[in-house]
Amino acid sequence: MSYQIKIPSCIFGGAGSIENVKAVIEKENAKKVIIFTDKGIRSTGLLDLLTDILEENKTEYQVFDDLACEPSYQDVEKVMKEVENTSGDLIIAIGGGSVMDAAKLCCVLKDADYTIKDLLNDPMLAKKQIKTVMIPTTCGTGSEATCNAIVAVPEEQSKKGIVNDSMIPDYVVLDSNMIRKLPKSIVAATGVDALAHVVECFTSKKATPFSDTYAAAGAKLIFHNIREAYNNPDNMEAKSNMMTGAFYGGVAITGSGTTAVHALSYPLGGKYHIAHGVSNAILFAHVMEFNKDACSKRLAILCDAVYPELAGKSEDEKAQYMIDQIADIVKVTNIPTDLKEFGVKPEDLDFLVDAGSKQQRLLVNNMKELSLDDIRNIYLKVLK
Ligand SMILES: NC(=O)c1ccc[n+]([C@@H]2O[C@H](COP(=O)([O-])OP(=O)(O)OC[C@H]3O[C@@H](n4cnc5c(N)ncnc54)[C@H](O)[C@@H]3O)[C@@H](O)[C@H]2O)c1
Ligand SMILES: [Zn+2]
Repeated sequence: MSYQIKIPSCIFGGAGSIENVKAVIEKENAKKVIIFTDKGIRSTGLLDLLTDILEENKTEYQVFDDLACEPSYQDVEKVMKEVENTSGDLIIAIGGGSVMDAAKLCCVLKDADYTIKDLLNDPMLAKKQIKTVMIPTTCGTGSEATCNAIVAVPEEQSKKGIVNDSMIPDYVVLDSNMIRKLPKSIVAATGVDALAHVVECFTSKKATPFSDTYAAAGAKLIFHNIREAYNNPDNMEAKSNMMTGAFYGGVAITGSGTTAVHALSYPLGGKYHIAHGVSNAILFAHVMEFNKDACSKRLAILCDAVYPELAGKSEDEKAQYMIDQIADIVKVTNIPTDLKEFGVKPEDLDFLVDAGSKQQRLLVNNMKELSLDDIRNIYLKVLK
């Protein structure tokens, strides 16, 4: 079997590494920068850190901050209409997965002769038009490392991933200062999203030695730092480790792929607008429990990497320990897991089963095949 992994060509890390944007602009000889962000990030002052650098450097820029959280493809289309009226030779995204995904779509859509709707039907059409710099401000999606952009598709009441190598970011800045003041609830939700990426990628049918290396390294960082990053917001070492772990999770996605947790969470995001990390957290331990008999060996290997002190335990005990840790992390980070709170009703079960079963792009990666009854039983567990 041959395999590959794709990685952004230049990655800066460390507190204050946003300063490297200056060198990127010089290297790319960029005259005008198109900035993607959202109003939430603008209000934190993080955008100013970037624009101060550009002003000092006398580099022209235009900011697009009218971006919805977890955008639909129509939201991206709307912002693209504005972007088409401007010129620019470098895109910088400063924000969470929503902002980065929109920026990645823009980098293949600007001045192109296809639309985002065309890409939803045939992602292979995408070709990079402008280089990108990603500055994540959450510690979760790993979008800064992937070739994926996820959009909501309201007509299908679900979400869809557009995947194309052209969308791989060119530069990444992992500056832990970006998450210094990240609200605790977002540390929790995005941190569990990153945890889901590494665990799903490691237990995916598509896992390879390359993706395993990143998934295991990410798992070590995230399992050991997520509680601390949540409980002690000033612990910058924990936060920095979370950022690195989330990035590794993104790299693992490009080499492997997420599985049934992400697949079944898409209808929860698409129809009920439950935040991506939260919908994954709701399903995570239940899906891994369902997967356990097929994945116990892989979970035990991951346990050896993350918790070597459990070396003497059996395969089954190690697999169960990993699942228990996942459930505990979701619990202690106070992620809301009651679907009723989000307006999901027992009578929505048929919709969920139908929409979840359509996420074949990810379901085919799951080591254990899911029948419609299996999917129904998993949703029933979280609809209790
Ligand atoms: N492309 C990929 O590979 C990939 C992977 C996983 C998820 N996703 C997508 O990413 C999106 C979710 O992204 P997310 O979880 O990062 O959240 P997000 O980008 O939707 O942001 C959530 C909220 O956090 C705020 N925020 C962000 N950074 C902040 C900061 N430092 N301080 C204060 N507030 C801040 C934002 O303003 C927003 O209100 C979803 O659409 C999901 O499908 C993409
Ligand atoms: Zn995710």
